[in-house]
Amino acid sequence: MPDAIFAHPRLAAVYDALEADRGDLDAYLAIAAELGARHVLDVGCGTGTLALLLAARGIEVTGLDPAAASLAVARAKPHAGRVRWIHGDAGALPPLRADLATMTGNVAQAIAGPDDWQAALSAVHGSLRPGGRLVLETRDPARRAWLGWTRQETHQAVEIPGTGRVERWHDLLDVSGPLVTFRTTVVFASDGEVLTSHSTLRFRERAEVEADLAAHGYDLKEVRDAPDRPGKEFVFVAERP
Ligand SMILES: C[S@@+](CC[C@H](N)C(=O)[O-])C[C@H]1O[C@@H](n2cnc3c(N)ncnc32)[C@H](O)[C@@H]1O
Repeated sequence: MPDAIFAHPRLAAVYDALEADRGDLDAYLAIAAELGARHVLDVGCGTGTLALLLAARGIEVTGLDPAAASLAVARAKPHAGRVRWIHGDAGALPPLRADLATMTGNVAQAIAGPDDWQAALSAVHGSLRPGGRLVLETRDPARRAWLGWTRQETHQAVEIPGTGRVERWHDLLDVSGPLVTFRTTVVFASDGEVLTSHSTLRFRERAEVEADLAAHGYDLKEVRDAPDRPGKEFVFVAERP
């Protein structure tokens, strides 16, 4: 069950405006170009930003997400017909023979349950062609990013044409080992509606992800830094041999 922040229609509709800086996707576009990928699978594609950027470069793209409301936002965007959209969970991917699978943003961390995570790695492996690559990012737990998830530090307000002023902030609720739970609050000034969403992310150690990838038959090629967030993320590049 995806978090309300992705699954509630009113929250999904303002996701892009609140996440306006997508410089994080440049690295993925560069990797797709570097690999000469002709078919990319974007796992947890959300509102389809990366999928549509890739499709605009002439790449065949499949975008999958379990949040129907986010997919509806994606499907309403210009040129959405260039992408094959799949409503579903990463653990239930069809065999696509993709050259590259991506998990951007919090996708890997949002798949917090161990069984779901194992199922996702297995299904993505099956959806790649031999020689195809999985690129995923996950925050380095040592940086303890959650310490900054307070209303004071995360508050933002945007004026969205046709929607009005929207405010959003995060509040850390709980840290239990690798599981970090926080609440997102979104306030719509036009009618005063206040919506909240609870999320739990799993912060995995680098060695844990490396072991999980190996256990599912991936060959780890490299672990990069996210160029836009140096020292904060691990970006794993793994191959289906
Ligand atoms: C922070 S959003 C990132 C969306 C998109 N990748 C981006 O960069 O804009 C995390 C996404 O992961 C999706 N997600 C959560 N659990 C998932 C799962 N089990 N399989 C696939 N996607 C999942 C959510 O629905 C949400 O769209």
